[in-house]
Order: sequence, then C-alpha cells, then structure tokens
Amino acid sequence: MTLQLRVYVPPHPLIKHWLAVARDAATPSVLFKSAMKELGRWLTYEAIRDWLPTIETTVQTPLAECPATFINPEVPLVVVPILRAGLGLLEGAQTLLPLASTYHIGLVRNEETLEASCYLNKMPEQFNPQTRVLITDPMLATGGTIMMAMAELTKRGIDPALTRIISVVAAPPALQKLSSAYPGLIVYTAMIDEGLNSQGYIVPGLGDAGDRTFGT
Ligand code: URA
Repeated sequence: MTLQLRVYVPPHPLIKHWLAVARDAATPSVLFKSAMKELGRWLTYEAIRDWLPTIETTVQTPLAECPATFINPEVPLVVVPILRAGLGLLEGAQTLLPLASTYHIGLVRNEETLEASCYLNKMPEQFNPQTRVLITDPMLATGGTIMMAMAELTKRGIDPALTRIISVVAAPPALQKLSSAYPGLIVYTAMIDEGLNSQGYIVPGLGDAGDRTFGT
C-alpha cells in the first residue's frame, strides 16, 4: 500500500467562523489572538481523534462494573509550536492535551530568499519512537519552515505517521513538498488557499500571522 499525505479541512462552523474573524483585516490583535486560540482548540479536537492512544479496561460505577476507555498515560504526547506564529494555536491545543510536553522550535524565514533558518531548538537528542507529535503552524506557505521542522523531528526518531500538523491556511507549494517527503503524515487545516504572492504570502490568506497575533 502506498501512503499519501492526507489533508483534512474539517467542515465545522466554529472553524469557519474563527477563520473568517482571523482573515478580516479589520480584526484587532486581541480578537485575532482569540481566533487563533479557538482554531487551535477545534483543529486539535479534529486532529487527535485517531491519534490519542487509549487503553481498554473496566471501571466500577456505583451500580456495576462496565467497560471503560482511558488515555494511555505511557505513550508520550508532544506538541511542537513553530515560533512565533505557532504559539497562537498552542494555547487552544493545550486545553485538550494538558499532559503533553511542549518542545519549542524557532524558525524564521528570510524575507528576500524565503529560506527558513532555525534560531531556537528545544528538542531532545532523541525521542521515544512511539511519541505522538502535534505541530502547530498556522501558515503552510512555501513549505520551508514546516519542512525544516519535520526534518528536525524525524532525525530525532519521530515517525511521520504518528505526526499531525494543524494549520489555519495551507497553500499548494507547502502541501506538495510535504506530500513528496512525508507520505503518511496528516494535516488538518481550516482552509486550502489558492497560492502565494511574490513575497511568499498566502493569498487571500490572513496576512502575517505572527505580527497579527502579537500586534508587533
Ligand atoms: N507566514 C505568514 O504569517 N503569512 C503568510 O501568508 C505566509 C507565511
């Protein structure tokens, strides 16, 4: 069986609503930040359906014993926000994954060459190969930063098939790069937009997600 990149656009009204708020150029930074948090929450909710490891057991209710499913505490869960803009989605993701560890990676793209470079990496040398990873990166544009983040994870033992990416807007160049390099990976995004402008911004997109989240 050949694995292929899967890209899901969950048809949820709350995701559509918060995307519309985030896209609107008139949305002030404080509301944009809330929109990112809500998108982080609902995209994570969708992304972890078949990703969270569970164990089957039984519990004793006040009346009888019955089957019960718990989250398996032995499988490591990791959230990787790509700084800076990925921090906007992190808070919402953490509300659903309170026990996950967070490993920050800071990637910045050169505005002229559009090449990504890494200025911060808090990942360990090696991860447990069973680790489930959720990456938060709101804008999958040229694919430079997400490809670099994936390379840093996979060289430390992370299995792309156990990795999920949540993004707010994705564009074809990033999805094509991910698809060629990481079949088996799954992306959850609020929308797939048409393409990029000459500065590498997604059109229509929502502008610079980091600037709008932090108001700087
Ligand atoms: N990063 C952003 O913040 N916005 C884009 O449109 C592309 C990359």
